[in-house]
Amino acid sequence: MELAIALDSRSSLPLHRQLYDELRRAILSGRLVPRQQLPSSRFLAKSLGISRTTVTQAYEQLLSEGYLDTVVGAGTFVCDQLPEDLLFSQAIAPSPPHPEPETIQLSAYGERLARLETTLQPELQTEISFRYGRPAFDQFPVQLWQKLLSRHCRHDTRWLDYSTDFQGYEPLRQAIARYLCRSRAVQCTSEQILITNGTQQALDLIMRLLINPGEGIALEEPGYLSARRIFLSHGAQLFPISVDRSGLIVSDLIQYSRQQVKLVYVTPSHQFPTGAILSLPRRLELLAWAHQTGALILEDDYDSEYRYGDRPIPALQGLDSQAAVLYMGSFSKVLFPALRIGYLVLSPPLVPLFARAKWLCDRHLPVLDQQVLASFIDEGYLERHLRKMRLVYDQRRQALVQVLQATFGEQVSIVGERAGLHLMVRFQTSLSDQAIIQRAAEQGVGLMSAQGQYLQPTRSGEFIFGYSELTVEQIKSGIQRLAQIGLSNQ
Ligand SMILES: Cc1ncc(COP(=O)(O)O)c(C=O)c1O
Repeated sequence: MELAIALDSRSSLPLHRQLYDELRRAILSGRLVPRQQLPSSRFLAKSLGISRTTVTQAYEQLLSEGYLDTVVGAGTFVCDQLPEDLLFSQAIAPSPPHPEPETIQLSAYGERLARLETTLQPELQTEISFRYGRPAFDQFPVQLWQKLLSRHCRHDTRWLDYSTDFQGYEPLRQAIARYLCRSRAVQCTSEQILITNGTQQALDLIMRLLINPGEGIALEEPGYLSARRIFLSHGAQLFPISVDRSGLIVSDLIQYSRQQVKLVYVTPSHQFPTGAILSLPRRLELLAWAHQTGALILEDDYDSEYRYGDRPIPALQGLDSQAAVLYMGSFSKVLFPALRIGYLVLSPPLVPLFARAKWLCDRHLPVLDQQVLASFIDEGYLERHLRKMRLVYDQRRQALVQVLQATFGEQVSIVGERAGLHLMVRFQTSLSDQAIIQRAAEQGVGLMSAQGQYLQPTRSGEFIFGYSELTVEQIKSGIQRLAQIGLSNQ
């Protein structure tokens, strides 16, 4: 059998290595097929004009790597199953065609999620954006955070391992419990706290463990869109309850029984997005209804840290005597959203089940982040940071209110300016929200309509103005540019 093999006697590569490479390439490219017999070493050596030892060395190498096989008395053959076949079988095998999305059978949850409306509009990139929800990153004490991080890194290596603290890092739970007791009059111990991946996971766990598809949830209208999406994704039936300047209109809720409404979701400290603060009489009325009916209250104490002038109203949870309130909070606004640390305060009987669900879902949050946050709270940095940020945000808030009023006068009304990091602005205008957003973007200003926060949108001209990220100069410039768009023009 003739084999066309090119060997270069001037190459620095030894001849046996060149022969090995040539034969291997011939096998892998299919020039030599499985079970094909190779010439004897004597014959090949003669035909290539090289020594027999050179051929034997190359053959032995290929035999040891599984490319060749010998059959006693019959000769040397290309192996049936080649090593590359085994090694790269996944890559070599033609990949099965991707099934069409509609042929994949989704679960009931998947079906509901697929039907949910998607995010309204991608955010337009603008020079000055009044988007809400981001704290002032330039004011965050990065160096201090770094110091705490390296201190914990060096201290020991426990943070590298799985945590067996199923509710979250115990010193962090203690720090949060103390903080909530002193600043929000929440009644709890660290044993009642579950550390969650932000408010979002707390909502999801509550849905999974307490609400069946078809069961009723009452919620503020307008209200927090991300919460509404979670409720709908779990198949809850929604009961929108209007809000006014004193928050949720509880008298509209109390017509419902426990059979209709199993849980009511509220943001009492700074109603999202109107910014109303739920008055004390309404808090008491809400608790009385929950106690009477056996319904649960889910208190999202969002933005409770930022109040301007008003005396703090204690959390609903602290006023509750019958464990009707599930309380949750987050460090997304107080520190930074990528931290993804939130907490849920539960009545003791619920804790083990929630901890088990969290563990099944994603084990736990990074231990190192929890250690750093625990030190940040315990060593007084959190409250120091909050004191500083209240002044910064208050200044920005005042600037925004003043410049809005000075620029738009009667054409504008402002609500929710006593707390939080945004306010809600109602313009008297004949333009659609989309037209306003578009015209503002042309002036380099980003705006967010409040329409998406309504379950049943009825009005237009309402916008959420976040100011936490912007300097006073940027706020002034942004509103002056808005004045150029001609709100009353057709
Ligand atoms: C009403 C409300 N609750 C909670 C959060 C915080 O969510 P998370 O902790 O998942 O970042 C936000 C964020 O914008 C919010 O608007």
